[in-house]
Amino acid sequence: MEIPNFDIQQLVTSAKSLFKKNESVIGLDIGSSVIKVIQTRKEQGRAVLETYGELALGPYGGLDVGRATNLSADKIVEAIKDLFREANITATTGSVSLPLSSALLTLIELPMVDDEKLAKMIPVEARKYIPVPITEVSLDWLIIPKSGGEEPKVEGEAPKQEKIQVMIVAIQNNVLKKYEEIITKIGLKDVSFEIEIYSSIRATIGRDMSPMMFIDMGAGITKIAIVEQGIIKNVHIISRGSQEATVALSRALNISVAKAEKMKREIGLLGRDEEERNISSIIEAATSYVFTEANRVLLGYQNKNNITINKVVLTGGGVLLKGLPEYSKKWLETEVVFGDSFSKIETPAFLQGVLTDAGPEFSVAIGLSLKRLQESS
Ligand SMILES: Nc1ncnc2c1ncn2[C@@H]1O[C@H](COP(=O)(O)OP(=O)(O)OP(=O)(O)O)[C@@H](O)[C@H]1O
Ligand SMILES: [Mg+2]
Repeated sequence: MEIPNFDIQQLVTSAKSLFKKNESVIGLDIGSSVIKVIQTRKEQGRAVLETYGELALGPYGGLDVGRATNLSADKIVEAIKDLFREANITATTGSVSLPLSSALLTLIELPMVDDEKLAKMIPVEARKYIPVPITEVSLDWLIIPKSGGEEPKVEGEAPKQEKIQVMIVAIQNNVLKKYEEIITKIGLKDVSFEIEIYSSIRATIGRDMSPMMFIDMGAGITKIAIVEQGIIKNVHIISRGSQEATVALSRALNISVAKAEKMKREIGLLGRDEEERNISSIIEAATSYVFTEANRVLLGYQNKNNITINKVVLTGGGVLLKGLPEYSKKWLETEVVFGDSFSKIETPAFLQGVLTDAGPEFSVAIGLSLKRLQESS
């Protein structure tokens, strides 16, 4: 079996990960509509912001800003080079996100065996759950630490064989190949990969270890993860995102996509007069599917596992829609907060307002750079 060259990680970061080297690293989030990059370095155990930037991909594929794309490796390389130039990126090492849509995550139960045996069992077990030939994917896995106490022993019964929970992750090899090609062509060295939702959670999770839901609303799709005690237990993809509202506005009002995108950002769900309220209601109709689905996932998980999810963390550019936190709160009936990812790194005081607003968008890139800084400790 091929050695996995991507990474899933337990999110609870250990206290011993004090930074040592002073090397600058990048976190590169190749989204479907926007590429984001951040460069940080370690200073006295803290991650310090050096530079950051973002670039819309639409124009590289003949589409408008805000639209999801499916570009060739060469086009993505062109865009990344432009972004690196604009943002003055100088680091040549870092972490890069892999799309959740190219991954399959399955939580399974296995008997407690040693690592060697486990490595043999996983590919065999994975075949049962992965709907494509096992030769087309690379596998990685994570043993989920036990929570709670030991199961009570029943007198007279033979001791049960101990079980462990394992999260198996399969990534399509053709996606890994494309990403490796991109990395080589932009001249990055010693790069690690991580599935995007793991990165955004690292950047936005606080000390609170209670069950939480993370929603990342991109242009074309919305990614959801349920996290218990800092560990991803469940992921879900909703095949709609923020561009739905732009397209709906453009069609309903017979205006260009570019104008519709501008309107969406300016007015959002908070239209003030009659005309604006009409715009808001079109946006709302196009956004409701995502939150109906998110609520279905939330309720389903709560019922199945007999737990309560107390908090929802919003990330991704789509959640910047004006009025969205209040709107999503109505659907999800729980506390809803923005992912404040820049608070995990040292930033200049004069930028703090801007960066707090940009936090949800940059959560994947920031999570990736934090991962990289931890790795080099
Ligand atoms: N201020 C804003 N108000 C409303 N929508 C916004 C705002 N800023 C960005 N968006 C929307 O967010 C979307 C892009 O979000 P994001 O950058 O998270 O996508 P992505 O990472 O490229 O997508 P994915 O993660 O699905 O690959 C676009 O559809 C854009 O219209
Ligand atoms: Mg994204």
